[in-house]
Amino acid sequence: MFSLRSPMPHARRISRARLAIAIAISATVIAGCGVKMGSESQRAANRPATADPASPDSAAAGERIFRYDTFGNEQFWTDTARLHEVVSRELQPLAALSLGLKVDLDNLNLMRFVLHNPFGASGTRELLRQNAVVGVQATFDNEGQIARIGITCALCHSTVDDAFVPGIGHRLDGWANSDLDIGAIIALSPALTADQKAVYRSWGKGKYDPRYNIDGKSTPLVTPPAYGLAKVNNATYTADGSISYWNAYAAITQMHGQGNFSEPRLNIDVKHSPDLVTSKLAALRAYQHSLLTPPTPAGSFDAAATQRGRALFDRTCATCHVDGSGTDNNSGKLHAPSDTGVDGAYAARTATKAYRTTPLRALWQHPPYFHDGSAATLGDVVAHYNRVRTLGLTTEQQRDLVEYLKSL
Ligand code: HEC
Ligand code: HEC
Repeated sequence: MFSLRSPMPHARRISRARLAIAIAISATVIAGCGVKMGSESQRAANRPATADPASPDSAAAGERIFRYDTFGNEQFWTDTARLHEVVSRELQPLAALSLGLKVDLDNLNLMRFVLHNPFGASGTRELLRQNAVVGVQATFDNEGQIARIGITCALCHSTVDDAFVPGIGHRLDGWANSDLDIGAIIALSPALTADQKAVYRSWGKGKYDPRYNIDGKSTPLVTPPAYGLAKVNNATYTADGSISYWNAYAAITQMHGQGNFSEPRLNIDVKHSPDLVTSKLAALRAYQHSLLTPPTPAGSFDAAATQRGRALFDRTCATCHVDGSGTDNNSGKLHAPSDTGVDGAYAARTATKAYRTTPLRALWQHPPYFHDGSAATLGDVVAHYNRVRTLGLTTEQQRDLVEYLKSL
């Protein structure tokens, strides 16, 4: 248990002192030379190219939906889960950061934030008023308390580049927020039973179970990146359907947005009127397809070893991780858990009951690996395959393969 009145004891990323110093320095800089936080050029750097910003189905429209649209889920997060009560009264900015919530520097008015006590719950309310908490939307009543609160896709699928301090920076959409302890955040809800809270708290950072509220089982998944999917036909670890199928599933059954979603294979049939989701799916898809895989940082892998690793990959891995999309699922293929020696409990709960070959993208960026995070490093991934598929790779070959994986 931790108190919301003070930062979590294991807040490893940012301390009170560090936030205070960063604020003091920036305040001096802003006052002295009129420098604005988050320049337009910085903001443009994280923005994908958009063809027609005016079209409601364009990537630009999708960006707004991905970042700011709650699909009317305030009804759940406010009226049912009552999260606004806890956030409004008790959640300090440092506690919010230590739960993995991120602050968007480009929406942040630092001076106004400082005036509202950056170390008290009023500081968090001010961040929300500035629309600067990534993936959380709030409106306020006349007393300055939160009236309605809701969540967006960006909560789990965006992070920030830490340009100001850890947790406060420019948005990186499509990068999973691997610091986010979404289970601990949901467990703040006064509407849950002690048993439910215990399950939510057991998931840990960067993980979420998108079926717990449907079948009552808990096998949390690593939140995957939402970039680099333009050539991938079916979304999710188990390829249950297209990207729009899954976006609707997430928006309606998980985020509790108002919309229609039907999945006869799992006996799910949700209907709302009006439907605030379906008309937005085309734009959301356009935006996700515009999110490119981030390039591997230069010099972070050994070029000669990568060449040798590539040859090994082509021989031992490329039958499933096929060239181009990175997955044999585009031709309809799925794999029993035993094909890759992974745990089958999650697949058993899904519509397909089997795993999609994961399209490999920016592996350097998002450890841990496999749906359940059972491989902490790429070395663990290769050692796992070497064992379960009896590849007989030497230590040097395994090292070469890891270098190649780092370069993808
Ligand atoms: C509470 C955290 C959370 C929220 C909010 C969330 N997702 Fe996800 N998302 C996940 C997790 C966990 C998975 C893995 C599910 C799986 O593969 O079975 C996932 C999977 C995905 C995938 C599949 C990626 C792939 O490799 O195929 C896409 C695309 C996606 N989400 C988009 C969205 C969109 C769009 C929204 C908003 C409508 C959204 N998500 C909201 C946690 C979240
Ligand atoms: C029989 C098909 C198959 C072969 C062969 C195969 N993979 Fe995979 N790969 C998969 C499947 C299926 C998954 C998803 C497993 C999971 O998430 O639990 C996966 C997942 C991965 C992941 C995790 C990606 C992530 O984002 O979590 C990596 C890395 C990977 N494979 C690398 C390799 C390497 C390296 C080889 C060769 C040594 C290889 N694979 C051989 C089917 C295969």
